Amino acid sequence: MGLPSLALAHSAGDVLVRAGAITVSPDDSSDKFLGEEFKVDNDTQLGLTVGYMVTDNIGVELLAATPFSHNIALPQFGNIAKTRQLPPTLMAQYYFGNKNSMWRPYVGIGLNYTTFFHEKFVDSPARPLLSDIKLKDSWGVAGQVGMDFVFNKNFIVNGSIWWMDIDTKAQFKLDGKHQSVKTHIDPWVYMMSVGYRF
Ligand code: NI
Repeated sequence: MGLPSLALAHSAGDVLVRAGAITVSPDDSSDKFLGEEFKVDNDTQLGLTVGYMVTDNIGVELLAATPFSHNIALPQFGNIAKTRQLPPTLMAQYYFGNKNSMWRPYVGIGLNYTTFFHEKFVDSPARPLLSDIKLKDSWGVAGQVGMDFVFNKNFIVNGSIWWMDIDTKAQFKLDGKHQSVKTHIDPWVYMMSVGYRF
């Protein structure tokens, strides 16, 4: 495009730190419990990614965030439980363009680990029968597309979307009897961020 060759954009050895709003939007499905599937709502937190450019086109990135909080509902009872979770994700990425490109679209594939904590039942018509909930941690693949706009030597603006295969087993008691309900959370994850390049 006749832009001056300033080596402005990402190149081998760069460290990219991005921070912004990240939303986890579950595309959930589960085994039937009392004839219905669990519904898991969205949550938005502060997301942070740290990336390293191995070459001008290949990067690795780790995603972290402040803990997400989700309500778990059954349509006939409304919200019956809630949980918190952290979904650290490690990605291998390919960045299109070259070290002079102001726009660096990228794709990534990687591994997600999600840990659930502070699971608990909340007040609902079903509450008297429910106790002892625990959600199993999840390992799964993650895919990603994103775009960096290289604003200047140090600053970037980023948008990215992940899909994460997050599956858990909800273990709890119904009227004292053990229950195990396999649940796919499988969220789309959206992040808008600003970044700094070292
Ligand atoms: Ni799944």
